[in-house]
Amino acid sequence: MRTQVAIIGSGPSGLLLGQLLTAAGIDNVIIDRADKDYILARVRAGVLEEGTVALMDQANAGTRMHAEGLPHDGFALAFDGREHRIDLHGLTSGRRVMVYGQTELTRDLMEQREKTGGLTIYNAVNVQPRDFDGNAPSVAFEKDGVSQHLQCDFIAGCDGFHGVSRKSVPDGSIKIFEKVYPFGWLGILADVAPVSHELIYANHPRGFALCSMRSETRSRYYIQCALDEKVEDWSDDRFWDELRRRLPGHHAEALLTAASFEKSIAPLRSFVAEPMRFGRLFLVGDAAHIVPPTGAKGLNLAASDVHYLFSGLVEHYRDRSDAGIDAYSQRALSRVWKAVRFSWWMTTMMHRFPDTGDFDQKIQEAELDYLTRSQPASMALAENYIGLPY
Ligand code: FAD
Ligand code: DHB
Repeated sequence: MRTQVAIIGSGPSGLLLGQLLTAAGIDNVIIDRADKDYILARVRAGVLEEGTVALMDQANAGTRMHAEGLPHDGFALAFDGREHRIDLHGLTSGRRVMVYGQTELTRDLMEQREKTGGLTIYNAVNVQPRDFDGNAPSVAFEKDGVSQHLQCDFIAGCDGFHGVSRKSVPDGSIKIFEKVYPFGWLGILADVAPVSHELIYANHPRGFALCSMRSETRSRYYIQCALDEKVEDWSDDRFWDELRRRLPGHHAEALLTAASFEKSIAPLRSFVAEPMRFGRLFLVGDAAHIVPPTGAKGLNLAASDVHYLFSGLVEHYRDRSDAGIDAYSQRALSRVWKAVRFSWWMTTMMHRFPDTGDFDQKIQEAELDYLTRSQPASMALAENYIGLPY
C-alpha cells in the first residue's frame, strides 16, 4: 500500500489534516488503533478559536458547526464574591469564539472523510513509524492478524500524548519540558440548560470551578479536585452541591441540575516536546504538547499545528519547495509556547494549590481585580483567549 501522507491517529488533528490534504488533492491514509465509536465517545474540549473554525471550513466540514455551534462574545470571571464579564468582542475589535464540542467536530470530519472516500484504518495493532530519517518512510501495522506496510512520502504523528510517534524518536534527539499540577478536573455532562449563556471561570477558596456548555440544553461543568479522588465517590448530588458552593450566590441559586451522563477526572499537565520534526516524521497536536485545560487551548493548538504542517506539505507538492516543511517545527513551537504560557498562567491564577495560603489567595484576587479593572490587562487576556494569529 502506498500514499503521499500517512497519518497516525484519527483524533481532531489527524482528521483535520487528512481532510485539508484531501481538499487540496494530496493523497493520505489515516491509521488508528481504536475504533470509530470509541473515538467519538471521548468527551473533551468545547471552545473553538476562529482559526480552528476557519480550518473546519477549509476542510469542507464546517456546515453543522455553523448551524449548531454557539458563537460567544465574552465570558465571566468570578472571584471574591463578585463577577466580571470579559468582553471578548469589544476587547479584540470584533472577534469571538465558538462553543462546539470536540465530539461533534470529530464526527463532522469523519463524515466528510467518508463522503470524500478517504481511507481510515481503525483497530490497527502495533502501529510503528519506520525509516523516517531517510527518503522512504513507512508505517508498519497489523490489521486482522495480517502484517502490513504503508509506504509514504511523509508521516504525520497525530496520535496524542500516549501515541507511538513521539516514542519512536531516539531519546537523544528530543527534549521534553514538563510541569505536572497537583490537582485534576472532575467534569460532568448533563442535559440541562446552562446556568448562564456565557462561560463562568470561578476562583474560590474551595477550588476552581468552570461552567461551560455544549448547547442551550446541554451543560458541561467542572470542579477542581484532588488527584487521588475517585469518580465513584462523586454522586451527582455531591457534585452539584460542591459546584454551588464555588459559584456566586445568584448563579448557585439559579443552577438547574439533572442526572449526569458522563463524569470523569482529568489530571492537569503542561508538556512540550522539541523539536516537532524528525526527518520525514512530524509530531502534531497532543503527540507533541499538552496544556492544562484552563483557557481551552489543547484542541486549538492541535489545529494550528495542522495549519503549519498542511501549508508546508502544499508547498512541497505544489511549489516543489521544502521551505514550509523546514520551518514547521519552529513556527508551530513559537505559537505552542505562547499557549503553554497562557494556560499555565490561567491555571495558576484560578486554582487552589495544596500550599495556597491566605497570602496566595489574596495575591490571586489582587491579580483578578487588576485584570478586570485594567483595559490593557483585559485586552491581553482576551487576545490570548480568542487565539493568537497563525
Ligand atoms: P487525540 O485527540 O488524543 O487523538 C489521538 C488519536 O490517536 C486517537 O484517536 C488515538 O486512538 C490514536 N492513537 C493513539 N495511539 C496510537 C497508536 N499507537 N497507533 C495508532 N493510533 C493511535 N482541550 C481543551 O481545549 N478543552 C478541554 O476541556 C479539554 N479536555 C480534555 C480532557 C481530557 C481527558 C483529555 C485527555 C484532553 C482534553 N483536552 C481538552 C485536550 C484536547 O482534547 C486535545 O488537545 C485534543 O484531543 C488533541 O487532539 P489530537 O488529535 O492531537 O489527539
Ligand atoms: C471547556 C473546557 C475548558 O477547558 C475551557 O477553558 C472552556 C470550556 C469545555 O469543555 O466546555
